[in-house]
Amino acid sequence: MAVAIQSFAKINVGLYIGAPGARGDGFHDLRTVYQTIALHDTLKVEIKRGMSGVEIRCKDKRVPEDESNTCWKMAERVMKALRATGRVVISIDKRLPVQGGLGAASGNAVATLIGIERACKRRLEAAERLRICAEVGSDVPLFLLGGTVLGLGRGEQVYPLPDLPDLDVVVATPEVGVSTPAAFKAWDGLFDRSGMTKTAQSAKLDSFSHHVYEWLDRYCCSPTGVSTRGGNRAEPLLLDLVRTGIENDFERVVFPQFPELRDVKRAMEHAGAKYASLSGSGSTVYGLFAGKAAAVKAAAALQAKGIPAVATKTLSRAQYWRQM
Ligand code: C5P
Repeated sequence: MAVAIQSFAKINVGLYIGAPGARGDGFHDLRTVYQTIALHDTLKVEIKRGMSGVEIRCKDKRVPEDESNTCWKMAERVMKALRATGRVVISIDKRLPVQGGLGAASGNAVATLIGIERACKRRLEAAERLRICAEVGSDVPLFLLGGTVLGLGRGEQVYPLPDLPDLDVVVATPEVGVSTPAAFKAWDGLFDRSGMTKTAQSAKLDSFSHHVYEWLDRYCCSPTGVSTRGGNRAEPLLLDLVRTGIENDFERVVFPQFPELRDVKRAMEHAGAKYASLSGSGSTVYGLFAGKAAAVKAAAALQAKGIPAVATKTLSRAQYWRQM
């Protein structure tokens, strides 16, 4: 039986990075809010009986078809954990950018997990799912939840936040590939070259929880999912979060290296975004908009400037699972 699954993308709404060497494992501590969006790849997962191994098929030549693919890593681990046999054939219809900061490869990995479980008509225990996903990659586990997700640890410790109403988003995908490990290395360099100190960064990480607390406090007082703070105009909640001053630390190292991405952020703001930011380590830059018409118009304005851009919307947890 072949199982078709939509594998959605995420954006990072704020991303604070810890100082180098703060953990003993070579990774960096992170604080972020992940938000799934409606852009997606489509995967077909099939288990062929009487054979073994993993096979990946993708027309996009930038997608590896060997064991370095996150889907391959996931398939091997899930088949072993389920004690299932057969050859896992994964066909990827790639729409999302590769190395784009949208978590496409990580979402593909979770789609593989769900596909295998459905094909085998068996489900792994929640703890086992999480363990395997965290092993495959730091931003894989978020796709086990979907919606608005708090990410801690190296990004793999995930907690669901309240399911938010839709918000219009414009996603710009400049044709620049940013390597995440290289971006982390550049981040470490800031502590040698600039006045950045580990103590100050540690305090900044602490301030992240204050931002999120402040935001959740407002949300709890507004069970309808909109904030009326600052006047009568009800505004979508995710915009309230960014108003707390949350930002993406990767911009400090990625923008100097790829100034064209800073220009895309400025163009996004100029096109009317209430908030614009790099997603993950980029190269995707997204903008949050207060309405669909504004988002569609902004995407057209960016395209007219030669910047590939598309209007989409956030995907709540309920929508994520319904549409998957
Ligand atoms: O976990 P993942 O495989 O996505 O990480 C890719 C690379 O990014 C790691 O090998 C590491 O160099 C870097 N990384 C990090 N700190 C994190 C997440 C990733 O340094 N929290």
